[in-house]
Amino acid sequence: MKKILTALTLSVLAATAAQASEGHIELKKSDWSFTGPRAHWDTMQILRGYEVATQVCISCHSFKYFSHRNLTTAGFTEDQAKALAGKMDMDVNQKLLSGLTAEDSKETYGLVVPDLSVMAKARHGGPDYIYSILTGYEEAPAGVDVGNGNYNKYFPGHVIAMPAPLSDGQVTYSDGTEATLEQMAHDVATFIAFISEPERVERQQMGVYVLIYLVIFTALAYVLKCAIWRDIKKKS
Ligand code: HEC
Repeated sequence: MKKILTALTLSVLAATAAQASEGHIELKKSDWSFTGPRAHWDTMQILRGYEVATQVCISCHSFKYFSHRNLTTAGFTEDQAKALAGKMDMDVNQKLLSGLTAEDSKETYGLVVPDLSVMAKARHGGPDYIYSILTGYEEAPAGVDVGNGNYNKYFPGHVIAMPAPLSDGQVTYSDGTEATLEQMAHDVATFIAFISEPERVERQQMGVYVLIYLVIFTALAYVLKCAIWRDIKKKS
């Protein structure tokens, strides 16, 4: 037993050391409506995140797996989804694409700007990663040359081609919420989490039901076991 424990401790230590040597960056952790036992999509927050995405991010990033119809999964009615699409002169089934072409993107940023529609699934930390990046811009420390890029505390390597996209008061929310940097970052990360994995909430709710079922089943099995043993003891 002692040997097993020592081996376990050593492997945990080795894993931690490996992470540290890979330059593991601790992300900011946030509370999300779509995690935990009461997971749900907050429709108003998704609307605000959508407003940030379509007023800011869309000038560089596409959301090619998103069409306005997807909003119905988050509790919007078909008419609301159509109205929002209409405001952008779009059809409800049309993909949300940026006007920035791959060529222009390469010329300006030296790379093709990544699509954001599966970003919450594609990166370690998902929504926490997006939230951290958006709020992680800082002055570069003395001696760090960022070239044409920008210093970001949470981006691997710390030099990111994206200029800080959000600053206080940048968007106008239709529900009157104050558009602070933190608020916009949290809202747009929620929107991206939703479009990356719309089924996520259902899966978590299912997990809770399975747990409840298992608890009830175990209790019943225990009661049955007691009853059977009572009978056997009586007979013997
Ligand atoms: C002016 C153009 C521009 C705008 C506006 C913009 N981005 Fe970016 N974004 C970029 C570029 C360029 C990159 C690639 C950075 C790199 O790899 O160095 C990037 C990268 C990212 C990444 C990191 C992706 C990765 O590979 O890990 C995230 C997350 C991101 N953007 C989110 C957003 C969100 C959310 C918005 C809207 C609030 C937004 N961006 C607005 C240009 C932009």
